[in-house]
Amino acid sequence: MHNANSAPLRARRAAPLTGTAQIPGDKSISQRALILGALADGETRITGLLESGDVHSTAGALSAFGATLTQEGPGRWRVLGTGVGNWTSPAAPLDFGNSGTGSRLVMGAMATTPITATFTGDASLRSRPMARVVEPLLAFGVTYEGQGEKALMPLTLHGAKAAKAITTHVATASAQVKSALLLAALNAQGTSRISQDALTRDHSEKMLAAFGAKISVSPRAEGGEVITVEGPARLTGCNVEVPRDPSSAAFAIVAALVVPGSEIELPAILLNPRRTGLIQTLLEMGAQIDVRNKRTSGGEEIGDLVVRRSQLKGVEVPADRAPSMIDEYPILAVAAAFATGKTAMRGLEELRVKESDRLEAVALGLMLNGVRYEIEGDDLVVEGMGPDGVPGGGTVPTHMDHRIAMSFLTMGLASQQPVTVDDVTMIATSFPEYQDLMKGLGAVMEAP
Ligand code: S3P
Repeated sequence: MHNANSAPLRARRAAPLTGTAQIPGDKSISQRALILGALADGETRITGLLESGDVHSTAGALSAFGATLTQEGPGRWRVLGTGVGNWTSPAAPLDFGNSGTGSRLVMGAMATTPITATFTGDASLRSRPMARVVEPLLAFGVTYEGQGEKALMPLTLHGAKAAKAITTHVATASAQVKSALLLAALNAQGTSRISQDALTRDHSEKMLAAFGAKISVSPRAEGGEVITVEGPARLTGCNVEVPRDPSSAAFAIVAALVVPGSEIELPAILLNPRRTGLIQTLLEMGAQIDVRNKRTSGGEEIGDLVVRRSQLKGVEVPADRAPSMIDEYPILAVAAAFATGKTAMRGLEELRVKESDRLEAVALGLMLNGVRYEIEGDDLVVEGMGPDGVPGGGTVPTHMDHRIAMSFLTMGLASQQPVTVDDVTMIATSFPEYQDLMKGLGAVMEAP
């Protein structure tokens, strides 16, 4: 996959990184705040919303369903919802750009209202399987027309009329699939029960409760959990404060760990335990990351981080940690390249269906920069080259994947030779401030 208007960028070794990184709002929570706001009765006021391509795609789609969304300032949005079950059919196909989360959650949100919408997106999104979402929604009575077995976009979804509650188990370790079902359950008659083995991110559950949905979460004896939602639900608009995104912070954190002499601060980062697998892993690798002033904001745990350059050592990352760091494996692979010893990351099958096949994209990036690794099934084992031993010098294809771009730029900040990535335009889907923020800390990134 290639972006027609691509812009390459090169990162190279320079001075230590210092200062304060003001990371933008969390993407997952931003998407959910807009969607729940659009489903609720009355007004939702959001602060700290991530202003990025993915979030703006979702905002556009929600307006097409009849909600009123107004940007009142940077990160400050007002949403007037229609009430659950009152969305109307959009007049034109909905273009979700690069956003898997936006499109899949909105599919769930419209699934139990008798309306029709066509979903499409960029080349990356059009290659991603939608069957994982629309097949479980069939139990509510939806019908759909997608492309081929994987139900690729363009996909037309017909919401169910008079949907009834369902009991189902989500086999995929995906918060997007779980969330789509929870949102669909809002307008189905009765109590839906949705169980999952993996403890995927729980922002939908928390925010639904804050909007007044009757929702409960209980652990299951056999592991995982079961979530019940009572429908038809009435959601009430509320105030949402979006914490700063740990998945975006990850790039600055690892940069500070690997660039000699660095010390940076990252205030008010989301520390929901289902999102902190990378921090846990880096600590096990010997990273100096101080978590200070833990507190709660907008119903989520947050804290301030101080990160210092550290000598990292290779570790085993167990498969059951994957849900809490699913978007962080590319940047962990970069940290592992600068470590001493091997880092084995187990159970990465979900990486194959992200914005790119991230397992392949990471492997190729490592190879092009002289880092040794092995792929064993769905495991990735990176051989650490030591803090000064990563050769670099490669030009990495990013496959329209923002996290591949930011990960390999991070590598270039500490490798012997600069690292080039073929396209940085996609970074704007999740972290438009990335380049300015990193340069503000002292990073050197320039057009090749
Ligand atoms: C997300 C869930 C994850 C993650 C994505 C955001 C969400 O996807 O990769 O960036 O907001 O629910 P999966 O649910 O497919 O694992």
